[in-house]
Amino acid sequence: METISFYGIFPMKRVLSGIQPSGELHLGNYFGMMSRMIKYQNENDLFCFIVNYHALTTIQDKDRLMNNTINAAMDFMSLGLDPEKSTFWVQSDVPQVCESTWLLSNVVNLGLLDRSTSYKDKLSKGLTPNLGLYSYPVLMASDILLFGGEIVPVGQDQKQHLEITRDIATRFNNIYGEVFVIPEPEIEKSTKLIPGIDGQKMSKSYGNTIPLFGEEKNIRKKFMSIVTDSTDIQKPKDTDTALFHLFSLFLNKSEKEELANRFMTPGMRYGDIKKELFECFWSYFEPFREKRIYLENHKDFVFDNLKKGAEKASLVAEGYMNKARHAMGLNFGSTNV
Ligand code: TYM
Repeated sequence: METISFYGIFPMKRVLSGIQPSGELHLGNYFGMMSRMIKYQNENDLFCFIVNYHALTTIQDKDRLMNNTINAAMDFMSLGLDPEKSTFWVQSDVPQVCESTWLLSNVVNLGLLDRSTSYKDKLSKGLTPNLGLYSYPVLMASDILLFGGEIVPVGQDQKQHLEITRDIATRFNNIYGEVFVIPEPEIEKSTKLIPGIDGQKMSKSYGNTIPLFGEEKNIRKKFMSIVTDSTDIQKPKDTDTALFHLFSLFLNKSEKEELANRFMTPGMRYGDIKKELFECFWSYFEPFREKRIYLENHKDFVFDNLKKGAEKASLVAEGYMNKARHAMGLNFGSTNV
């Protein structure tokens, strides 16, 4: 079940989502999840985190993981995530999430994990099938349930993970009583699957991304290599293509109709459209690039805010952990009684 929002406002609901620091953040991340989270922070109780425990399934290089994690945090803040309006932290700074993963593991049906398409996808790309990769959806369920997430904005690729989370929470509550909130995914129709430059889903692991930040020359090159067909210049062009979809992300309804008209009109050159799309992208992200440079030079500010976010998030996590420990008969020792 997916949530339909009225302009994305869910009167003071806990809206929660996370992102992996497994590489450079890209346009798919921005339009699929980040831009909505940033919009929702004004009207909702927003919880947002960088999932570095999840990234361990693909990165085993300490420096790379550390760099990617701080870069992802700076990217999110540059794009408008305000740590004063939200709770923003790095996953490993609230380690209770590992404890709850173990508790939840005991109510997970293996068939559910066997059917995980993202697990199968990763195996097909040659990743070692270790336990971390296999139990990835349980850690993700833990991320959501431990903070009482009610609405979870994500792209289409995370839908199955949300179904697994709902299944785990329902099973847990059936066995132990009402402890966890059953979350709803929030998937936006027009941005649920942003294509990459090769026309497949934009994904760090497919090497087809357009990064949000970086050298102008490199990013321009990415736009210029968006795959197009060889339709004769005098013939109408297909609008169900990566180029049209990517351009649409920056357009309102009437601008989109205008672009569709240009695709239908003989003489249109893909190269011209790609150049315009790049210019559009470059000016859209201009203010964010300036903020990004500022944060790069004020990393202490970023670390301080992440620390405060982790402290706030820990309080919520501890509340749910205590309820779960009590419900399961684990409340021994002075801290838990
Ligand atoms: P991740 O890091 O792969 O992606 C972050 C968010 O970006 C969305 N996204 C896309 N949306 C549309 N089109 C695309 N091409 C595209 N590529 C990425 C993703 O759907 C996601 O919403 N498992 C999660 C991270 C996670 C999480 C969580 C999310 C861990 N714990 C708890 C929500 C709640 C992941 O790998 O996302």
